[in-house]
This record gives sequence, structure tokens and C-alpha cells, in this order.
Amino acid sequence: MQDILNQIDQVRQRALAELAAVAAAAELETWRIKYLGTKGEVKNLNDFISHAQGPDKKTVGQRVNPVKKEIEAAFEEKKGSLSSDVTAVKDYIDVTEPGLRPEIGRTHVITQVTNELTELFGRMGFTVAAGPEVEDDFHNFVALNIPSSHPARDPNDNFYIAGSENAGLLLRTQTSTVQIRVMETQPPPIRVVIPGKVYRPDTMDATHLPMFHQLEALVIDKNVNMVDLKSTILQFVHAYFGPDTQIRFRPSFFPFTEPSAEVDVWFPDKNKWIELGGCGMVHPNVLKVLEKHGLNSEEYSGWAFGFGIDRIAMRKYAIPDIRMLIENDLRFLRQF
Ligand code: DAH
Repeated sequence: MQDILNQIDQVRQRALAELAAVAAAAELETWRIKYLGTKGEVKNLNDFISHAQGPDKKTVGQRVNPVKKEIEAAFEEKKGSLSSDVTAVKDYIDVTEPGLRPEIGRTHVITQVTNELTELFGRMGFTVAAGPEVEDDFHNFVALNIPSSHPARDPNDNFYIAGSENAGLLLRTQTSTVQIRVMETQPPPIRVVIPGKVYRPDTMDATHLPMFHQLEALVIDKNVNMVDLKSTILQFVHAYFGPDTQIRFRPSFFPFTEPSAEVDVWFPDKNKWIELGGCGMVHPNVLKVLEKHGLNSEEYSGWAFGFGIDRIAMRKYAIPDIRMLIENDLRFLRQF
């Protein structure tokens, strides 16, 4: 029994003596492993407790535990004094070791595609315009020739801003709102593209999000016609998706265009038509905004389109599910 207590004291004396001799952080680590590591000598003192029998267990425990505490406290103190000792820290840092490479961020795939699109249309003479995401009744509906009885105004199809009943504020459902804002601020000739977020209370699935992105285009001048519209879209589609793609117009209806069409793109590799969005000749009622500038709106004509940016990105990169765009999974995002 006395022999065990002596052994405990010896470990204590050795540990403290060696600790006192430690002069640098690296040495301290070696000491720590030797004494306080999982297989270290101080940890091994526990074996004395578990091997002791009957009342000896208590005697051994009462010796081991304060010794452990004392050694651990001495270690902490030493650690503190070494880290405040500049020469010791210098010893510890290996300046030849390669550093941690900082992670470089990147733009989101939707931002990348948006930039590609505005850059491409920039080369075709378009400038970029923007408008607010919280819109009023006038810009989202009235000025776009959407009458108050129109089903598009249904509260179930729009995110109205609570408490804005009189002003009728809502998250814009389409970037077409910015057509009005551009015509209000600038007289023709107008040649703009408008990328932006739009909001609709759709149920989320592989092809729908309550927030998605559109690229709107608006051209207003004298003698603008549907041939301009179709050839501009064809040029864009060939430049962006490749010369083997084709387009087709399907007659459609939008309150703010007349005539209106839906545009599909033919992808030979997929052997499939994929819908790009809507387009048409700007409705005479919408052109009336130009009267703000003292112009006779009947002297002008224009065309517009609104395409889904998410859909374009998904087609370009074969992304199977639109929800991947907003999940922030780095394994996905790092691919772009
Ligand atoms: N705003 C329409 C939508 O979100 C798309 C659209 C159709 C835009 C025709 C246009 C257009 O500019 O001329 O469904």
C-alpha cells in the first residue's frame, strides 16, 4: 500500500519537475502527451484506484485525485505563461509550412446566367434597366392593361403586402412592371432588358418556386414590327444555345401585348420543344404611358418578351430540379 502511494508521489514529482524544465510550446505538447494524454502517466494513476481493494480504494483515490488536479493546474499555468512568451510562440510556428488556402467565393449560377444574358443583349444594343420588387397596383396591373375584374388580381395568385389594402402593394408577379417604369422615365427610342426576381404563391415542386427570375425585354420606336421581335429572339437563341436550335411562336394571350405569342426552343439533343416565355407587340393601351412625355403614342410601336431565367439556366446546365437553385448545397453550387 505504502509502495503504491510512493509511486503516485514519484509520478507527481517527475511530472512537475519535467514541466518546470519545459521552455517551448512544442516541448509542452510532448510533456502533455506523456503525462496527460489518454495513455499518459497521470491518466494511468487511475489504474491504482481501480486495482485497489476494500478501504485501500478510498486511500488511493484520496491521494490520486489531488495529484491529478495539481498537475493539470500546473499544466494550464505553464500553457498560459508560454503563450504569452513571444519567443516560445515563435519556436512553435513553422513558417515554412504551407498556409491555409483562402476559399474564393463565386457568383450563384443564376447570377452568372443573368450576366451572360445581359452581356449578350448588350452586344445587340440593349441597355439594362431595373425596377422595384414591391410594386403597386398601377404598375403591376392597371398600366399593363389588366382590368380590375381580371383573374390575375386574385389574392390567391399574388403576394399582397399586408396592411397595404388602399395602396394595393404586392411583390411583383412579372418583370413586365418595369416596362411601365422605363416608359415613364425615358422617351423612345427604348431598347432595354430587365432581369429580376418575381413572386407567385405557387406550390414548390421540381419546376416551380414561389420566387423565380425573369428576363424582360422592351423595344419601343417608330415602325417596330413583329419581324424584329422574331429575329431578335432567334439571334439570341442561336447565340446562347447554339446554331442547331430553332424557335417557334405559338399564338397566345397576354393583356399587355397584341398579338401575343409563346416562344418555344427546339433542342436537337433533347429532341424536344422547351418553353422560353411570352412575347408580343406592345398593346396600344400600354403605349399610352408615353403620353407622359407629350408624345402621341399612336406614332409608336414596340415589342416585348419575358423569359424565365431559371429555366434557361436549368436547360443550359441540365439541372433537373429548380429547388437545387435555392438549397445552398455547396456540392451543387461549386460546380458553376
Ligand atoms: N409577363 C409574362 C409572364 O410573366 C411574360 C410576358 C409575356 C412578358 C409577353 C412580355 C410579353 O413582355 O410581351 O407570364
